[in-house]
Amino acid sequence: MRQIRLIYSSRPTAEFHYTDLGPILRASARNNVRLDITGVMALSRTHFIQILEGGREAVSHLYGRISRDPRHRDFVLYGVEEIPERAYSRWRMGFVGAEAFTAERCLCLVNAPKINPQLLDARSLTLLLDDILRTETVRDAIDAQHDFTLDEDVFEIAV
Ligand SMILES: Cc1cc2nc3c(=O)[nH]c(=O)nc-3n(C[C@H](O)[C@H](O)[C@H](O)COP(=O)(O)O)c2cc1C
Repeated sequence: MRQIRLIYSSRPTAEFHYTDLGPILRASARNNVRLDITGVMALSRTHFIQILEGGREAVSHLYGRISRDPRHRDFVLYGVEEIPERAYSRWRMGFVGAEAFTAERCLCLVNAPKINPQLLDARSLTLLLDDILRTETVRDAIDAQHDFTLDEDVFEIAV
């Protein structure tokens, strides 16, 4: 079966309530197991960044569904590539929050203090995420013990 990796960013809208994160991650865990999809999701102060890996059809179908979700918009697709093996198979949907996107880290790896899709390409975004995944605590959506609540004022909504 051919496998692909897809990377995109989007911005939370006013329809994204800070209490939505838990339900989104729980739905992701449930569906991604069924679809044999793995990956990670990050929410910086301004953007969602998500990497989806799995079968070509499964990832295409899921991305179609996710991109119709009114809780985010302004999608930027960084890349879709065929992969010989998965790099993010440790997580059904790993999650890291805004605290990982320190200005220092962003300046060092993407040359700007915060996520700006106009300045980013797939390689620098992947370097940034990989650095975060190596050094920060990543919570897996499949792990029921986690309480995926967000601070209300931690992110900015796209207006
Ligand atoms: C940023 C973001 C990422 C999402 N990622 C996933 C995902 O990886 N898998 C998934 O099934 N749903 C994901 N969703 C939720 C879907 O848009 C949709 O609400 C969900 O798949 C519905 O699942 P259900 O029909 O089982 O309730 C995501 C939503 C957002 C806003």
